[in-house]
Amino acid sequence: MTPPITPTTPVSPKEYEIIVTTMDDEEAILNFLRKTFFKDEPLNKFLELISNENPQCIDLEKFALKDLDNGLNLKAVHNGNIIGVSLNALLTKGYYSDDFKVTDPKFSKIVRLLDRITIESDVFSRFPDCKKAITVKILSVDGAYRGQGIAKELINKTSMQTIEKILIFSSFIGSRSLEENTGIISQFPARL
Ligand SMILES: CC(C)(COP(=O)(O)OP(=O)(O)OC[C@H]1O[C@@H](n2cnc3c(N)ncnc32)[C@H](O)[C@@H]1OP(=O)(O)O)[C@@H](O)C(=O)NCCC(=O)NCCS
Repeated sequence: MTPPITPTTPVSPKEYEIIVTTMDDEEAILNFLRKTFFKDEPLNKFLELISNENPQCIDLEKFALKDLDNGLNLKAVHNGNIIGVSLNALLTKGYYSDDFKVTDPKFSKIVRLLDRITIESDVFSRFPDCKKAITVKILSVDGAYRGQGIAKELINKTSMQTIEKILIFSSFIGSRSLEENTGIISQFPARL
């Protein structure tokens, strides 16, 4: 039998809770992402955004935290520790860009890709009655807790949070199964 790729720590749904983040979570979320997403998200990994030579990507850290106080970000907590996050931003029809400045050349490639996906997929034209959408910027679960439905629950709670909506869109790349199971509408052109 093939052993699992990552060791898992079984956790019953009752043993962790999902909580809306506040600015007080800034440091803990950053520490969590430094151990996980910054290194293991496929695009970050492919581009070697984090390496021994460049152990920190300030632009990525700012990107991750910039909407932390919008009331839409969620953390999964087990025994007082963050084991997953869904960091989400609100989009308004007609306003795609913000004034976020990126200087890191590798991260700039990712931001350009995500911007292009946002523009080309043009979700609001596909859902003309929708004026707001939530974009899932960062979805990450601690390697020891993967495969237990925590990301799915983070996405489900994100979707329940939305007020006017009805449309979640995500730049989630590489998980058709997650999309199908949560109703996320992918922005990745290859899937449209
Ligand atoms: C992707 C990630 C968040 C999934 O977390 P998780 O808690 O293990 O996911 P879940 O257990 O809720 O899985 C939900 C579904 O998605 C599927 N899935 C999970 N990760 C997947 C991946 N990388 N590719 C394809 N499908 C995936 C699962 O098989 C499951 O489907 P099922 O219900 O049919 O079995 C986690 O693997 C992670 O943090 N990866 C690194 C960061 C990353 O790639 N984030 C996404 C881009 S923002």
